[in-house]
Amino acid sequence: MAEALPNPDATPTAPSASASIESVLHEERRFEPPAAFASQARIGSIQAYRALVAEAEADPDAFWGAWARQELHWFTPFEKVLDWSDPPSARWFEGGTTNLAYNCLDRHLEGPRADKLALIWEGEPGDERRFTYRQLHAEVCKAANALRSLGIGKGDLVALYMPMVPEAAIAMLACARIGAPHSVVFGGFSAEALRDRLIDGDAKAVITADGGFRKDKAVALKPAVDAALAGGVCPTLKHVLVVRRTGEPTAMEAGRDLWWHDLVDSQSPECPAEPMASEDRLFVLYTSGSTGKPKGVVHTTAGYNLWAHLTFQWIFDIRDDDIHWCTADVGWITGHSYIVYGPLSNGATTVMYEGAPRPSKPGAFWEVIEKHRCTIFYTAPTAIRAFMKGGREVPDRSDLTSLRLLGTVGEPINPEAWMWYRDVIGGNRCPVVDTWWQTETGGVMISPLPGATATKPGSCTLPLPGIAADVVDLEGRSVGVDQGGYLAVRRPWPGMMRTVHGDHERFRKSYWEHIPPINGEYIYFAGDGARRDADGYFWVMGRVDDVINVSGHRLGTMEIESALVSHPAVAEAAVVGRPDELKGEAIVAFVSLEGGRSGDAALEAELRRHVGQEIGPIARPDLIRFSDVLPKTRSGKIMRRLLRSLAAGQEVSGDISTLEDRSVLDTLRV
Ligand code: WTA
Repeated sequence: MAEALPNPDATPTAPSASASIESVLHEERRFEPPAAFASQARIGSIQAYRALVAEAEADPDAFWGAWARQELHWFTPFEKVLDWSDPPSARWFEGGTTNLAYNCLDRHLEGPRADKLALIWEGEPGDERRFTYRQLHAEVCKAANALRSLGIGKGDLVALYMPMVPEAAIAMLACARIGAPHSVVFGGFSAEALRDRLIDGDAKAVITADGGFRKDKAVALKPAVDAALAGGVCPTLKHVLVVRRTGEPTAMEAGRDLWWHDLVDSQSPECPAEPMASEDRLFVLYTSGSTGKPKGVVHTTAGYNLWAHLTFQWIFDIRDDDIHWCTADVGWITGHSYIVYGPLSNGATTVMYEGAPRPSKPGAFWEVIEKHRCTIFYTAPTAIRAFMKGGREVPDRSDLTSLRLLGTVGEPINPEAWMWYRDVIGGNRCPVVDTWWQTETGGVMISPLPGATATKPGSCTLPLPGIAADVVDLEGRSVGVDQGGYLAVRRPWPGMMRTVHGDHERFRKSYWEHIPPINGEYIYFAGDGARRDADGYFWVMGRVDDVINVSGHRLGTMEIESALVSHPAVAEAAVVGRPDELKGEAIVAFVSLEGGRSGDAALEAELRRHVGQEIGPIARPDLIRFSDVLPKTRSGKIMRRLLRSLAAGQEVSGDISTLEDRSVLDTLRV
């Protein structure tokens, strides 16, 4: 299905208070990399960064080829770096065979790293598990053998619907080991959302848990899997493997469901890694786009591995004694690339935390940092804004002196939050890296290199070497300094998504044809608005399509609208984002009801619950406005721009001459 073009005359606007154009234009603070940091960094000066950029520009294939040979283990060396003869289909490192789990585990077993900690897991009730590389390797082999014993092999899709327990990472690596692509579905998604993803992916098995701990209580997960599979809607799916986490009573269906410990624990701890062709499918990860249906972003073996590996190494300037903690959930790309694959591929120690800060434990994150002596901390601006609100007394209670580097990801960060982060958490000593990227890009694309790039609060600074990022108009022309435009990438890169699962046409249209290819030059359209300042620094403003970013979670407005109209009381719905001080964006729904029914608080609560059931609690509207009619053009199109202004409490500006019924405006003001 084709996606709507963004409104070409809409200058991309800041979706949130966080990166208002004003603060961007007036932001003049600049922080050089601390000398002590730079002197030890892998890339320790802006000249060193520029040399890498120049090398990549001069001969991209030679550049990527050299890194791929140096950083990954190959069973068979590749013959060709990039085949871009049929854009936008890219084929990287053709002829080569490798295995991501091998790169993350086996190759570290040869030297002293074998007994280094690979994974430190901090459970919500305070339990803890630690795995050295040797131990993690054994666990992954056992899980891989267990999957094989179920008849699962190369090419069979395995879905994961897991809490943040070590078995989530072990299962991902086990899938990669045997060449079974995984599809991790965020544990906060509902049974309905899980069902759609299982069906779309033709999943052969689901790995889940009885439940997990969220905030201060055990939350069941397995019943959602049962509900998703009810009625035999997914005929390909034969096995459900269940990790025991909470120990709560759990219904098991004979012949289909097996306990992880019954099947996995008795397996052999040796399982050869399957040599995978570079372009063999590694995983599918669903993400929201402009249309109702989430798309299955497909990543392949070697390119993704190289990109997660290299970006992790460059951006976090990883050292052997680092303890890296990324607070994302493994259900998102950040968890894939920077909890599991990037750190392990580099032989680093990665921390995984089941819990979250909450009123009963506001200092939870800082206690984890103190306890495990974390050196790198990578989180979302929403979390930082919440901590700011809680006051510095909370983090000040913990010893954060182990930290040497801070990162942010997922949404624009407002300069105030950036400064607070640097000061209160980083003690004005740690560089802050604001990393811009997407599920589709596999890994970070634009970010400071902490030993090389001077930072400015609110800017993700400069593209990584080899990344031809630009800000363009819809004809693909670069726009001028400080002009708003569309964030785009002019050349393929190893970690780029390869297709939308089952819909290559959608891949082409959504990403590569918004800006029509000129003279065979295909430009990747990211869906974000941005500008570049006189130093070439990027300032990302947020989405220019119908995607909203709520607390760093990406949601399609049309997905939420479909969920709303699936309720019998709802005739029509339009969903927009509204700037929110804490969450970046909040969800506002304008709803008209069937048969002249009028809305009230009870129905609002009911609709919020319904959306929670259809998608997941993160998609519940913050505010629902009922109205007899929605503002439409004479041709019947809902005027979203107008709704966005109304939701933001702004005066409606611009042309409303096409609005069919002006009186609608008064009834809708928020
Ligand atoms: C937004 C998350 C501003 C952006 C890794 C992008 C950001 C979307 C940043 C992708 C950043 C991510 N500054 N905006 N540093 N990082 N975004 O696929 O709108 O969940 O398109 O990937 O998040 O979200 P996704």
